[in-house]
Amino acid sequence: MLLCGGLLTLLASALAFPPEGLPLDSEWEAWKTAHKKEYNGLGEEALRRSIWEKNMQLIEAHNQEYELGMHSYELAMNHLGDMTPEEVVEKMTGLQVPLVREANSTFIPDYSEELPKAIDYRKLGYVTPVRNQGSCGSCWAFSSVGALEGQLMKTQGKLLSLSPQNLVDCVKENDGCGGGYMINAFKYVKKNGGIDSEEAYPYVGEDQSCAYNKTGKAAEIRGFKEVPEGSEKALQAAVAKFGPISVGIDASLGTFFQYRRGVYYDRDCDKDNINHAVLVVGYGATPKGKKYWIVKNSWGEDWGDKGYILMARNRNNACGIANLASFPIMSPPEGA
Ligand SMILES: *[C@@H]1O[C@H](CO)[C@@H](O)[C@H](O)[C@H]1NC(C)=O
Ligand SMILES: *[C@@H]1O[C@H](CO)[C@@H](O)[C@H](O)[C@H]1NC(C)=O
Repeated sequence: MLLCGGLLTLLASALAFPPEGLPLDSEWEAWKTAHKKEYNGLGEEALRRSIWEKNMQLIEAHNQEYELGMHSYELAMNHLGDMTPEEVVEKMTGLQVPLVREANSTFIPDYSEELPKAIDYRKLGYVTPVRNQGSCGSCWAFSSVGALEGQLMKTQGKLLSLSPQNLVDCVKENDGCGGGYMINAFKYVKKNGGIDSEEAYPYVGEDQSCAYNKTGKAAEIRGFKEVPEGSEKALQAAVAKFGPISVGIDASLGTFFQYRRGVYYDRDCDKDNINHAVLVVGYGATPKGKKYWIVKNSWGEDWGDKGYILMARNRNNACGIANLASFPIMSPPEGA
């Protein structure tokens, strides 16, 4: 596996440069306990601790700069602190970017319409609780389900969790826990005639054979739309007009993994390296005028700001947030 090479290299460098006697023993023990970490032997623990110490240093240095006004966001240690960026991307993302975009499915906003200055669909009851994809590259399924849940609320006034496992198991064009793409999920839901609720088809975070059962169906769609590539203006219009929107981002930086609060902006975030799918559930600006997107992740509530991150908005499409945005089209119920 790819990962092994990375681990060996890291282990070698950890042995060559033992961390200087930082008095972190009690912090390390407390962190392991808090996050229920267990390691296979002392070698593995030494390796994990050396990665964790590097992350601690990154976090402390960043937060000192934050105090000096050099950043708009803070970092904090969390459950990802003993993993390298490569490992987090390998285990916890899973967006496969398509080679060609869909024909004839582009959402063309009316740019003359005035848009609200801020909107937060969490406050409007469109957003289900934050979930955790675990060690499965199913971000695409959580992102798709989030957009479907928003439309179910908007068109039918029902808020309930839909089944990412249904998508992981049944979307043949995707690769389950190996990764996938939201448009393929929307196409499946349309062709299949629906998607099950989370209750009917619970998440297990592993590839299984498809077990869709229409008795558990909770939503159906008639199509989908894509936001014009790279346009934050169009993304804002789509969010304002429709609701939560599925997006792809670059989530491969340590600052992203250890984000705690504030408006995230890292100049190294690469709009041409999109690897993770998340859900835009609104937008706004801080009292000082820093504009942001409100983004729901699927790494549990222990990550970020209770599972959410504010990402820089209108800063040259930071992290590529407007590059791969899409949403399903749902109808109101018959007779409504
Ligand atoms: C897209 O629209 C054009 C013009 O209406 C049509 O000729 C073409 O067949 C459509 N393509 C697809 C894939 O539907
Ligand atoms: C679908 O779910 C219903 C209700 O739980 C159950 O009676 C039925 O056997 C299921 N069908 C299949 C094919 O599993």
